Amino acid sequence: MVRSKQLREGACMTAGLEDLTAHNPGLLGYPLAGRELGRGKDAYAYEFGPELVYRRAPFSIPSGFEESLAIAHVQEHARREIEAYATLPPNTSVARTLVAWVAGNCVHKIIERAEGAPLHNRSEGRVAIHDLKGEWEARVEKVAQIPQAHFDTLVWSDTELRNRTIFMDYLGIDNLFYDDTSGFTIIDAEYSPQLPLKGAGMYVSLIDTESLDTLIPRESNWEGRISSTSRDHVVTILEKLACAGHKPGKSKYAPRFMKLCQQLAYSPDYLTDQK
Ligand SMILES: Nc1ncnc2c1ncn2[C@@H]1O[C@H](COP(=O)(O)OP(=O)(O)O)[C@@H](O)[C@H]1O
Ligand SMILES: [Mg+2]
Repeated sequence: MVRSKQLREGACMTAGLEDLTAHNPGLLGYPLAGRELGRGKDAYAYEFGPELVYRRAPFSIPSGFEESLAIAHVQEHARREIEAYATLPPNTSVARTLVAWVAGNCVHKIIERAEGAPLHNRSEGRVAIHDLKGEWEARVEKVAQIPQAHFDTLVWSDTELRNRTIFMDYLGIDNLFYDDTSGFTIIDAEYSPQLPLKGAGMYVSLIDTESLDTLIPRESNWEGRISSTSRDHVVTILEKLACAGHKPGKSKYAPRFMKLCQQLAYSPDYLTDQK
């Protein structure tokens, strides 16, 4: 994982911002120098040097709220988010928020840049089913081949994040980057001390269950829908996750997960070993 020493030491938001704006006078205005890296529902992400990302996302002021109070609230939230990221162990596989500020009804952030590329791509979920099958089968094959050690670090990192009320959005299938050397990197995780834990589970991001649901309709079995090799790849991914400690069949995600296992004719050992 790439780090910027200078920014990490200046974990204080304002000091970090002064540093940044001194070296990048255009930062607070548009357009920014960096190449666009990606776009979410509302967010824009740009290159900010080789190791960092500049991300901008609008926020709305709830009706009836005093604007200055709402801005102060968003700013305080961002300050705590940076503090929470700063307490993570160094080898946590996440793109940390390093600096954040509020301007022009947007939250602006400087974030560590994830290495590699997203495991899955959100636009692929919308292609015709015939094309989707080949695409998706190639993607799960790649994921199934990822070494166990990278799965271990991913699941461990997710727990470290959750312990600090930072939640990965498992449904955003492009929120997990992968690089052969550095392994997985979680991006777009939400610092959310008030909200209850989000649903789903890590397995959703890794196997892209949205595409799988399109390929295997409800109440159907995998046979005749996906190849037996792909079925085995999905099972391998689930086994690697279980080995790393992610056992969705034992969690609140169980009903959805058990349905998937049934469709794949897969019974995880950790559920059948009744010791
Ligand atoms: N830290 C990062 N490293 C590399 N690319 C990123 C990073 N943050 C965002 N991006 C790119 O920008 C896209 C949108 O950013 P994201 O934070 O996921 O926004 P959203 O919340 O709208 O999904 C990502 O899918 C990714 O391609
Ligand atoms: Mg995202």
